[in-house]
Amino acid sequence: MKSENMYIIWSHPRADSLTAKIVEEIQGEATRNDISVTTLDLYRRGFNPALEQDDEPDWQNPQKQYSSEVHQLFGELQDKDTLVFVFPLWWYSFPAMLKGYLDRVWNHGLAYGKGSTLAGKKIRWVALIGGSEDKFIEYGWCKNMTDFLNGAASYLGIEDNGITFLYNTIGVEQDIGDNQSHYESLFEKSRRIVDTLL
Ligand SMILES: Cc1cc2nc3c(=O)[nH]c(=O)nc-3n(C[C@H](O)[C@H](O)[C@H](O)COP(=O)(O)O)c2cc1C
Repeated sequence: MKSENMYIIWSHPRADSLTAKIVEEIQGEATRNDISVTTLDLYRRGFNPALEQDDEPDWQNPQKQYSSEVHQLFGELQDKDTLVFVFPLWWYSFPAMLKGYLDRVWNHGLAYGKGSTLAGKKIRWVALIGGSEDKFIEYGWCKNMTDFLNGAASYLGIEDNGITFLYNTIGVEQDIGDNQSHYESLFEKSRRIVDTLL
């Protein structure tokens, strides 16, 4: 079924980063295809990724009331059929900001624990990777990250899960020749993600 409402959750300290530009590309392409887009810019929203006591799950009580920020942000997902995460790879993982979003907002009783309210949504993960594809595969990071993202989606009952890695974002591990055409190819690859939602 075609996506109608997309929610892009993204994390980068700079609003003019390559990560932000990839968000713009996806947003633009989705809009051109009549998908309504809402973005959650975790840094500019002032999100605090540290899980404090208020947001610690009570395993006996899936009805627990968490902080108002958590209920507000989880509520923002409800009418969206498609969730897109855009982030730079940091230490072969999520930036802490995004990990904290999952820890706090996708909490027990909300995202999991009494039947997931996220099952049925589509997810697209878009990771910007500084290094080369060869090294990412050689050291096992590709499998590690793919297994984690697929595992997280299936834990939540999400069947339509897509992962895109955008390589050589800093052009150090591998010569990226004419930078401009390399970055154009990353923008094109990110726009093509929208094709999988139509
Ligand atoms: C704290 C930190 C950790 C990073 N760790 C990795 C890494 O593990 N592997 C990798 O390929 N690139 C790594 N990078 C490079 C980022 O992936 C790269 O800066 C990003 O994809 C470029 O997008 P941006 O310009 O939007 O930041 C790291 C960068 C930072 C700042």
